Amino acid sequence: MCGIVGYIGQNQAMPVLIKGLKKLEYRGYDSSGIAVFSDHLQVVKTKGRLADLEEKIKTDGSINGCVGIGHTRWATHGAPDDVNAHPHTSSNGRISVVHNGIIENYLPLRTELEKKGYTFVSETDTEVVAQLFDAYYNGDMVDTMIRVIQKIRGSYALGVLCQEKPDEIIAVRKDSPLLVGLGNHENFIASDIPALLEYTKDYYLLNDNEIVVLKKDCVTILDMEKQEISKEIYHVTWDISTAEKGGYDYFMMKEIMEQPTAIRATLSPRIVNGEIQLDSIQYTTEDIKNINRIHIVACGSAWHAGLVGKYVIEDYARIPVEVDLASEFRYRKPILHPNDICIIISQSGETADTLAALREAKRQGIRILSIVNVVGSSIARESDDVLYTWAGPEIAVATTKGYSAQIALMYLIALKFGQARGYISTEEIKQLVAELENIPSQIETLLKQEGEWKALAKAHAQIPNAFVIGRGIDYAVALEGALKLKEISYIHCEAYAAGELKHGTISLVEDGTLVLAIATQDALYEKLVSNVKEVKARGAYVIAIAKEGNTEIAEVADNVIYIPQITDSFTASLDVIPLQIFSYYVAVERGCDVDMPRNLAKSVTVE
Ligand code: F6R
Repeated sequence: MCGIVGYIGQNQAMPVLIKGLKKLEYRGYDSSGIAVFSDHLQVVKTKGRLADLEEKIKTDGSINGCVGIGHTRWATHGAPDDVNAHPHTSSNGRISVVHNGIIENYLPLRTELEKKGYTFVSETDTEVVAQLFDAYYNGDMVDTMIRVIQKIRGSYALGVLCQEKPDEIIAVRKDSPLLVGLGNHENFIASDIPALLEYTKDYYLLNDNEIVVLKKDCVTILDMEKQEISKEIYHVTWDISTAEKGGYDYFMMKEIMEQPTAIRATLSPRIVNGEIQLDSIQYTTEDIKNINRIHIVACGSAWHAGLVGKYVIEDYARIPVEVDLASEFRYRKPILHPNDICIIISQSGETADTLAALREAKRQGIRILSIVNVVGSSIARESDDVLYTWAGPEIAVATTKGYSAQIALMYLIALKFGQARGYISTEEIKQLVAELENIPSQIETLLKQEGEWKALAKAHAQIPNAFVIGRGIDYAVALEGALKLKEISYIHCEAYAAGELKHGTISLVEDGTLVLAIATQDALYEKLVSNVKEVKARGAYVIAIAKEGNTEIAEVADNVIYIPQITDSFTASLDVIPLQIFSYYVAVERGCDVDMPRNLAKSVTVE
């Protein structure tokens, strides 16, 4: 949510900033801007995409200088327009600031500054930070930063330039991500690794309120007492091509196609000679036996992955599982027992509500196991145990491979816990693990049918609304399928537990209403077919998803998409594939920007 870059070195800053922002555009894309030093601070900013900023820079003339900061915005305070775009500058032009996060007490601060004679031009919370820097400036940017931090409340990653310090950038973070990239006679700040990759693979992770002073040839990190902190250097292991489109029209399709690899990479290091070994987590058999209840907490698709987790963990490990939306959990005063554990799921590891929920669970003293994709992210660092999904960087705003890798870990946890608690025999484990290991190649087979689903999507691209129904795990996947369609194609789509539809919502079904019916739970199949008949009787057009060999469903549904045979517990991994591809092609057909849907941003770092 908002992307920040900063560059200081011996090359021109502007092209580095623009390239970096392009890599971060997935974080927000309603406006953007840069500030670059030459003999004075030059600021160019505009509403719209980065292409609009590039155009404006061309029109405004050249921007020279080897020090600069840049920002791509997802609006929180004030409309996405030229004035509210970052960087924000103090009234006298001395300070320039880019910010990701929310300054919660910006209104009283603004009033206080106005009384001192500062005038504001934007509606943003960030302009207050620029003015505060100016008001507190005493010739030392670290002192000033400390005073500003003590005054502001909320979440922030800040990159700041001062007219009087042309050879440094000062930066800080709290509850919003910020990395420091380490180059050769050049250094960087960025919200995420892809912005750095062209220049360096070495970086520092920052903890809350660690202040960074970035110069061309050195990086100093200080705490709030101005004591220098020595940091471990992290090294990016993946290649720049992983974060490129690689010939696909959109990252989303590339990431859909990468799902077999992502699941393989997530599963295979943890399956050794047919045995599940949950690397790096410190749970003994005794610990697992003592678990009283599991609280799974997440947002959006990660929450949907948690729902799949509930079904499989309760089934195999017989541990009661509650699944909460992080934004609810954090404020609902959850009752946690000392022997409960909390599983936090997050692709980015930075989602504000999820991080706050983790802290609430921790405050109550329960053990946190997190499932995270981004190595070293805040959620990973604050958890007691971490299981990484090895999905690689996910750039498209709508998650695909991140979700698939999360559910793969849900299966492993369910089986491992089930075995430890004595509910699954060694024989059963062997057979289930073999099924798990087969999932990536089953997805590869499924992906070959992409062309058929494209045709189906084209035929239905202009529908006004749709339903996705299912029972049991199929219902959990229905929620994910409906979200995919909604967020990228802007078609209203509701997921419903198939048995629940007749309790009111079926009144919305009329002639031609599209219903995607997931019918892959053998144990619930007949019940689901009855629900399909109910919507058919009211005129719905039904596309069913069923297991291969099921010929009967074709007599009830208008179209059938077949998935390979698989045990009921693992169907989510296969069911979701046609739903993702169907949504993708509907969105393409409707002319939507698949990777950057309106109003959205990846990594939601505000609550
Ligand atoms: C939907 C989607 C979001 C995220 C949610 C949580 O396609 O991507 O719903 O799943 O914002 O994000 P993470 O997993 O980064 O915490």
